[in-house]
Amino acid sequence: MFTEEKEKKAKYGSVVFVYCFFCVVLVVGLVRIAKPYDNFKQNLMEAEAAVEEGFLGATYSSRNLPCNAHKSRSDSVPAQNQEKLSAQTSYFYRQLPPNSYCVQFDSFATMLKQVNTGKYESRPFSIGGYNWSLLIYPNGNKQDNVNGYISVYARIHNSSLMTNEVNAEIKFFIYSKIKDQYLTFQDNEPQRFHMFKPQWGIPTMISLSSFLTTTNGFVFDGGRSVFGVDVVVTEPFKKWEVFSNEENIRDPIYCWKITQFSTLDRNSYTSGSFSCGGRNWVLKVYPNGVGSATGNSLSLFLLSASNETDYVRAKLRVLDQIRFTHLEKQLEGWPNATENGWGLDKFVTLADIKNATKGFLVNDTLKVEVEILSFSKTDFFSL
Ligand SMILES: *[C@@H]1O[C@H](CO)[C@@H](O)[C@H](O)[C@H]1NC(C)=O
Ligand SMILES: *[C@@H]1O[C@H](CO)[C@@H](O)[C@H](O)[C@H]1NC(C)=O
Ligand SMILES: *[C@@H]1O[C@H](CO)[C@@H](O)[C@H](O)[C@H]1NC(C)=O
Ligand SMILES: *[C@@H]1O[C@H](CO)[C@@H](O)[C@H](O)[C@H]1NC(C)=O
Ligand SMILES: *[C@@H]1O[C@H](CO)[C@@H](O)[C@H](O)[C@H]1NC(C)=O
Ligand SMILES: *[C@@H]1O[C@H](CO)[C@@H](O)[C@H](O)[C@H]1NC(C)=O
Repeated sequence: MFTEEKEKKAKYGSVVFVYCFFCVVLVVGLVRIAKPYDNFKQNLMEAEAAVEEGFLGATYSSRNLPCNAHKSRSDSVPAQNQEKLSAQTSYFYRQLPPNSYCVQFDSFATMLKQVNTGKYESRPFSIGGYNWSLLIYPNGNKQDNVNGYISVYARIHNSSLMTNEVNAEIKFFIYSKIKDQYLTFQDNEPQRFHMFKPQWGIPTMISLSSFLTTTNGFVFDGGRSVFGVDVVVTEPFKKWEVFSNEENIRDPIYCWKITQFSTLDRNSYTSGSFSCGGRNWVLKVYPNGVGSATGNSLSLFLLSASNETDYVRAKLRVLDQIRFTHLEKQLEGWPNATENGWGLDKFVTLADIKNATKGFLVNDTLKVEVEILSFSKTDFFSL
């Protein structure tokens, strides 16, 4: 409106300028043409303004607002003056009802008359061990200099607050019967409540005129309306974990001497537990193989004695006790199965073990060795 006035003045100014230089007839003609156009433009802008007034944008700037009159009103949401809602507040429709508390007014108009410029305060409800109330100012909270808007607040009862601070995520709701959904207002950040700031809310949740607009469906069944609130008390985490990789392994090598190898008749044998990098491990052999290796190769595995399931990088060896050309295979990965951990079914063929020139079996003794290069670990903490 204001800019339109100025435009009009500017136009009239130039008309006068033209008048001075040219002739009255021309000016009258110009005004006759320009005036209806101005009126048309003015009417159009007023219509657009009225539409915008119906739907208000919190986080949205005016250029995102629907500004053509064809857009259905019920597609948009209320709020008249964008500056009045904080940039942190956003709104949307949702199906689920509020889960903390609801207030229904059988007649919003009657409540408005009775409360007038004051507030309606719900009875206390308990969330997170604290008592809360929902405050509704149907005609704006005058202490926040609000007029013509509905203001809503959540208040924590100070009986339960001494010096401690409570952080809570707050959402406010208005039910729309037409959509059968809840228009939801929420802030990006949880709010701090404490003795000197026991309440928080949205002073300009929705303009009274938008609220009352019948096509929004907030007032239904002859005057009924429903307001709601969600309070979720948030506490900082008290438990956490840190995932890291242990690279500098203390005592990385362990050698296991298996004597009287030819007499072994059990399926598998497990070494005594040993410590590498501050963790306990065992080695496990299947002298006659396991799975696809059965009867063909020796199977060799590294296991965690405490059943850790971390990522491990290690070298497994069968030692050549004569020429020291050991058979070495590197493993890397997560364990395949708790019973076998990290390793290989087909580590060395039985033929190679029996081949005396390979030096694996000397005096009927087999030596297997592990060198642990790194392993991941997860440390758990709690307060
Ligand atoms: C608790 O709140 C009431 C009103 O809500 C106020 O009058 C009173 O001073 C408050 N008490 C404390 C300890 O803050
Ligand atoms: C909440 O309010 C109830 C009833 O008004 C009261 O009995 C209770 O002690 C309050 N709880 C806290 C934590 O203040
Ligand atoms: C590791 O797992 C085995 C078999 O699942 C179980 O018998 C053993 O008690 C577990 N050891 C530890 C330290 O959890
Ligand atoms: C898991 O098993 C596969 C196939 O048996 C093998 O190739 C792989 O190296 C094993 N991974 C580890 C970490 O042992
Ligand atoms: C034993 O190992 C040597 C050296 O690797 C090889 O030349 C020979 O053929 C093997 N003997 C048998 C019977 O496999
Ligand atoms: C094999 O055993 C004999 C006696 O048991 C011993 O004298 C010899 O040193 C052993 N050889 C090796 C390579 O350990």
